[in-house]
This record gives sequence, C-alpha cells and structure tokens, in this order.
Amino acid sequence: MARRSRCKRKGSHNLKMYRSRVAGWGSYLPERVVTNRDLAEFVDTSDNWIVDRTGIQQRHIAATGEYTSDLATRAAERALESAGVDASDVDLIVVATATPDQTFPATAVKVQADLGVSRGAAFDVQAVCTGFVYALAVADNFIRLGQAECALVIGAETFSRILDWSDRSTCVLFGDGAGALVMRASEAKPGTNSPGVLSTHLHADGTKRGFLYVDGGPSTTQTTGHLRMSGREVFRHAVGLLAAAVDEALEANGLEPDDIDWLVPHQANKRIIDATAKKLGMPEDKIVYTIDRHANTSAASIPLALAQAAEDGRIQRGHLILIEGMGGGFTWGSAVIRW
Ligand code: ACO
Repeated sequence: MARRSRCKRKGSHNLKMYRSRVAGWGSYLPERVVTNRDLAEFVDTSDNWIVDRTGIQQRHIAATGEYTSDLATRAAERALESAGVDASDVDLIVVATATPDQTFPATAVKVQADLGVSRGAAFDVQAVCTGFVYALAVADNFIRLGQAECALVIGAETFSRILDWSDRSTCVLFGDGAGALVMRASEAKPGTNSPGVLSTHLHADGTKRGFLYVDGGPSTTQTTGHLRMSGREVFRHAVGLLAAAVDEALEANGLEPDDIDWLVPHQANKRIIDATAKKLGMPEDKIVYTIDRHANTSAASIPLALAQAAEDGRIQRGHLILIEGMGGGFTWGSAVIRW
C-alpha cells in the first residue's frame, strides 16, 4: 500500500464512524521447552553461537497431536476472557498463519468451531512473519467499515512442523506459539489520543520470495516441504525495510519516536530488532523482547509479545504502541495502536 493512497485514506478517517479498539489479549505457548543445549545434542551447533547471532535461548515446541488451531484457540479463549467478551459476540475471526492445520478449510474455521461460534466470517491470512500485521489491518478495515463489530485477530504457528531439523542454519531459529487480540468497534474520535488502531501500512515485494520460502506445497510438490532461507539476504533487507515501515507509521500519524511508549517488533532476531531500533533512535527500554524465550514464532510473535507485555503491566491503557514485522515474500508492515 503506497503511502500516498494511505494518506488519502487517513484524511477521510474523521468521516468514519468506527475505530477498532483492543478489548482483550491472550497468548499460549506449548508446554515443551527446548533449549539451545537440547538442540546441540542432535545438531552441530552451540548455545554460544545461537545466543550471539540471534539472542535466542529457548523455544516452545508443540506436542504430537497439538495443532496450530489448538494453540490459536487457547490464545483466543484467554483473549476473550481478558476482554470479558462472550464467544457468541464474535463476528469475525482472522487467523494469521503459514502453518495451517490443513490446506483447507482455514484454521480459522476450526478455531471458530472450537470456540462454539457459528456466525460471522472466519478465514486465514498468509503473510508469513508479517501475518499478524496483515490480519490486524484486515480486521481493522472490516470494523471501520461497519462490517464487523467484534473480531478475534490471532497469530498462530507450528513452525516446528516445517523445519528441516538437519539444517542448523534454520532449525535453531524458530518456535511454536499463538497470540490473540479481541478488537471491538468503538466510536471514532479524531486525533491520536483516543483508543484504537490509528494506522496500518502493508507492503510486499514478490521478487524477493526466493530468499525465504518453503520448498513444497499442494500445487507444486504435493508435499508440505521445509523452510529454506538465505539468512544473510534476509538480514540485509530486514533492517532497512523495517526502519522504513516504522518511519512511515510515525509520519502518517504526525508522531516522533519519543511519542511511542512501546515498540513491539516481530521477533526474528535480536540483532535485527536492535539494528532497527538504533536506526530510529529508540531506546532499548521501550522495546518488548520475547525472542530469548520464544525464538521466532512467525505470525504469532507480535501478538504473543503484546499479550505478555500487557499481562505483566508494561503495556497499559492509553499507551501508544508501534508494531512492525517483516517476513517471507518479502512482506512487511506496521501499525500504530493507542492501547
Ligand atoms: N550453529 C553453528 N554454526 C552455524 C549455525 C548454527 N546453528 N548456522 C550456521 N552456522 C555456521 C555456518 O555454517 C557458517 O559456517 P562457515 O563459515 O564455516 O561456512 C557460519 O556459521 C556463518 O554462517 P552465516 O549464515 O553466514 O551466519 P550469519 O552470521 O549470517 O548468521 C543468521 C546466520 C543468524 C541466520 C543471520 O543471517 C540472520 O540473523 N539472518 C536473518 C534471518 C532471520 O532472522 N530469519 C528469520 C525469518 S525471517 C523473519 O522473520 C524476518
């Protein structure tokens, strides 16, 4: 989405009746924790190498028979509870995932059924590690247009299922988990002080899809395939694209980095997060990090980080939150939320 068209939309925000507001949050991590030392028992790697290059110390791995929809449903239940919202009020479920239970139907409809909801729309969004930003933008647009009143926006992944566990350059980087937000329609007020999603900006550049992909799929190999990545290329592009996405979000809202209470980045790699923050002059104590404990949970990483920081009291009502992410495609984007 080009900034120019976004600015036009921004100008018309004041005419809209609704804004989507964060009503609740929840997260879920599978019980099993795998440390770097555990990995070093079957892959040629070390705790030092992984910590130095990525900041990752451990990751959670889903149990046999535990699926992406199970993680998503647990996170959604917690988000509904925190919002004090009954599942029957939900009229939109958007699940961001690159590791769906099945090719179809969407993981979102399984979550819908597991929550006992049988009305409204439910579908998946696939933008890999930017998936949650895309899903939030979709739900926000539904709500602002009056097409939904109460949305569950979920990021959920079981990346452990698409890793090549003999490839040390990728298998050490990822983990499983889920995070969810309940977004409710609230009356839109002009300016950046009233609660809700203030802006979303989405981007993609398909010419870069060969740097990070899965080498299988229903239409090509009829297999699930494994994740493949040119780590250096991803790193090289990530810092510039993410810093630009953050700049774009700030500029669209007339904000300075100092105005932001919390930067909640996609948790790919501590070095990427730190380099992006440095470019923006954002101090480390305003950044939510979960990469050390969760590793990279792709579309789940941002909502997991949001939910955990809200639960432990760092993120509070009225705070200004900036989320940003980048992933396979490449896709990238950002959103500004008054919590
Ligand atoms: N343990 C020990 N050694 C390793 C490991 C490992 N797990 N993985 C690779 N190595 C070795 C390589 O074999 C290589 O050895 P060699 O010099 O003998 O050939 C050496 O370490 C250096 O390998 P590089 O790939 O050049 O290492 P680099 O410094 O680039 O770090 C990393 C690799 C961490 C993947 C880095 O490129 C990176 O952070 N890239 C970003 C990728 C990323 O975050 N992807 C997440 C998905 S995308 C997203 O979410 C935005």
